[in-house]
Amino acid sequence: MPMYKNDKNSITIYYRRIIFLIFSLILSAVQTVVAENIPEYISGGSIAFVPIGLEQQRSLKNLLLQDCGSCHGMTLKGGLGPALTKDVMAGRSREMLFATISEGRQGTPMPPWKNILTKSEINWLVDTLYKGLNSGKINNEN
Ligand code: HEC
Repeated sequence: MPMYKNDKNSITIYYRRIIFLIFSLILSAVQTVVAENIPEYISGGSIAFVPIGLEQQRSLKNLLLQDCGSCHGMTLKGGLGPALTKDVMAGRSREMLFATISEGRQGTPMPPWKNILTKSEINWLVDTLYKGLNSGKINNEN
């Protein structure tokens, strides 16, 4: 009976679709739970770090030297804002540095950067501060 066989096939396909749908829903729920439980300063707000390309690294480095440097000193050794050198940064937690750059410090001239920079970019800045300004060669430049 070909009719019956076709019906059976279409029911199987229908069930497969439902199972696929349920599976997708579970998967996305799991992803959301995982993403929400990884702290921002580690995950950059998503499961994977968004890689920072070389051009972007160059412009972030310029930002550090020029914008951040306008307060923290051209070599980040201090000015209006405190020194952000490798030695000083070694004593600071990643969480605090991320929060300070992201939110700024209320009641001080330190501005928030979260509307200008992505979380991944802020993470890159924190990494770069830990490494020291001149240690991280970008495309064989300093
Ligand atoms: C308008 C001036 C100004 C600019 C621009 C500025 N900062 Fe700051 N920053 C400050 C001041 C002032 C403080 C100290 C705040 C306080 O007294 O708690 C500070 C504090 C910090 C701290 C905490 C240091 C510590 O040891 O606790 C970090 C990290 C930092 N800034 C990073 C940056 C970065 C990165 C940029 C550029 C993206 C930047 N700042 C741009 C003025 C500035």
